Amino acid sequence: MAILKVTRLGHPVLRQVAKPVPQGEITSPAIQRLIDDMIETMHEYDGVGIAAPQVHQSLQLAVIEVAHNPRYPQAPEIPLTVLINPEITARSDAKRMGWEGCLSVDGLRGQVPRSEQLSARWLDRAGRPVEAEVQGFFAVVIQHEVDHLQGKVFLDRMTDLTTLTHLQEYERYWLRRNDESEEG
Ligand code: NI
Repeated sequence: MAILKVTRLGHPVLRQVAKPVPQGEITSPAIQRLIDDMIETMHEYDGVGIAAPQVHQSLQLAVIEVAHNPRYPQAPEIPLTVLINPEITARSDAKRMGWEGCLSVDGLRGQVPRSEQLSARWLDRAGRPVEAEVQGFFAVVIQHEVDHLQGKVFLDRMTDLTTLTHLQEYERYWLRRNDESEEG
């Protein structure tokens, strides 16, 4: 396993629509190693998710996990989930506003409106199809990661750029005031 270099905002791969992983290649050593390396990289940088374009691979692949994350201390736990060729098939009109950050947009947080609930399907790391109804913080993280696979970052989804804040100022001026409603 290896910790991979994370692409930062401005790298063109973050703005490309990623290519689907061919179904016959999911269990190949190369893809399985990439998945393991993405998990290790996510853990190393305390991310709640990471998408393949964030490690220079234009592939429809992302990993998600929340377990006592120091960057998101209030976030509910999410089991390790590998999303291959994910598709959001339905989204609720009801939105929630929550703070998001991104390993590719280092040191910044901003408020992003996201659908409260969604339906999605994807393949797991064994290539098995998964269908799920997801809500709350898990739904937010899926929307964030699927956006990466479409060449989008959370900044594109912000409706009020005045909430964009450095992490230190977020902790100083925003965290307490919004305690109950935020994930981070
Ligand atoms: Ni991100």
